[in-house]
Amino acid sequence: MLAYITGAAGFLGSHLVDQLMRDDWNVVGIDNLATGDGRNLDDARATARFTFVHADVSQPWREWTSSLATPLQRPDVVFHLASPASPVHYERLALETMAVNAVGTMHAVGFSQAAGSTLLYASTSESYGDPLEHPQRESYWGNVNPVGVRSCYDESKRYGEAYVTTAVRKLGIDARIVRIFNTYGPRMQAGDGRVIPNFCVSALRGEPLTVYGDGSQTRSFCYVDDLLDGIVRLATRPGLSGNVVNIGNPGEFTIRELAAIVAELAEVELRTIDVALPPDDPARRRPDITKARTLLEWEPKVALRDGLQKTLDFFRARADEPTGYDCVAEYDTGVS
Ligand SMILES: NC(=O)c1ccc[n+]([C@@H]2O[C@H](COP(=O)([O-])OP(=O)(O)OC[C@H]3O[C@@H](n4cnc5c(N)ncnc54)[C@H](O)[C@@H]3O)[C@@H](O)[C@H]2O)c1
Repeated sequence: MLAYITGAAGFLGSHLVDQLMRDDWNVVGIDNLATGDGRNLDDARATARFTFVHADVSQPWREWTSSLATPLQRPDVVFHLASPASPVHYERLALETMAVNAVGTMHAVGFSQAAGSTLLYASTSESYGDPLEHPQRESYWGNVNPVGVRSCYDESKRYGEAYVTTAVRKLGIDARIVRIFNTYGPRMQAGDGRVIPNFCVSALRGEPLTVYGDGSQTRSFCYVDDLLDGIVRLATRPGLSGNVVNIGNPGEFTIRELAAIVAELAEVELRTIDVALPPDDPARRRPDITKARTLLEWEPKVALRDGLQKTLDFFRARADEPTGYDCVAEYDTGVS
C-alpha cells in the first residue's frame, strides 16, 4: 500500500507516517515545515520506504510531485493533513492557513483525481464553532463567526469540506472527511498554545498553570493513537466515500479538572493563574461518535491519565532541548 501524507512533519502527520510504516505501507510525506518539526521524521527518513518532499501544497500538485522519481504514482490514499492547527500558529499564519485549506485542498483533490486515489481530508471540530448543539453530531451545521480572529481556520476548513464534498458529487472522486476533536500526545510543541502542552510544560517547570476564564469550559481529549486508528479505518474501509465522521474522545473534562490531573501526574502542587477568555472561545465541545462506532466499529481506548503520562514523559525527555517553537503562548484555549 502507498500513502501520500501532506503535513507529514507535524504532530499528527508524523505519527501517521510511523503507524502506516509499521503496517508495511510505503509513504511519501509532503511538508513545507511551516509548523512541523523535521525531527519528527528522523525514524522514517532512515528507511527506504519513506520519501520526504519539502514543498508547499498550496502550490499546484505538479510542483509538489515534480521532485519524485515517478511524479504521478498511484497512492492508495492521500491523507491531506497540511494546515497550521493551533490558534497561535493559525493566527500568525492566517493567510497561509486559508490558502492551504482552500487552494491546497483543491490541489489535493486534483491530485487524487489524477492518481485515482482515495482522499482523506482532515477537518476539525472547529467547523462547529461555538456549538449550540451538544454533543456535536455530524449533521449539525455549526455556529461560526465568519469574520472573527478564528475564521481563517474555521471557515477555511469549512470551505475545504464544501470543496471535497462537491468534488465527490461532481468529479466522482472517492473522498472522506474526518472532523478531528482535540487530540494530544508526544510531538506536540511546547509553545504552540494548546492547553495540554502548556499545562505539561508549566507543570514540569514548576510554574503555575494558566487557566483562561473560570476554567469551567469543557473539552474532550483524544490520545493520538486512538485518533489515527479511526482515521485509517475511515480512509481504508470500502464504500465510505462522501462520509463526514467525527473522531474524538467523548469523555468531557473542564479545563480546571485537566489542570488538576496534570499537576497530580507531574507530582507538583496545583497552582493556577486566571486570565480572561479570548474571543470566540467555545464553552463546550464534545463529539457524538455514534457514526464512528457504527461505520468504523471505532472507539477510543486510551484513558486520559495514561495518555497524559506519555505526553508528560515526552516533554520531560525534551526539557533540555531547543524546541524550535518554544514561543510564548499568546493564549491557551484548549481548542484546535
Ligand atoms: N491536533 C489536533 O487536535 C487537531 C484537531 C483538529 C484538526 N486537526 C487537523 O489535523 C491536521 C494536522 O494537525 P497537527 O496537530 O498535526 O498540526 P501541525 O501543525 O503539527 O501539523 C501540520 C503540518 O502541516 C504542515 N503544513 C502547513 N501548511 C503547509 C503547506 N502549505 N504545505 C505543506 N505543509 C504544510 C506544517 O509544516 C506541519 O508539519 C491539520 O489539518 C489540523 O487542522 C488537528
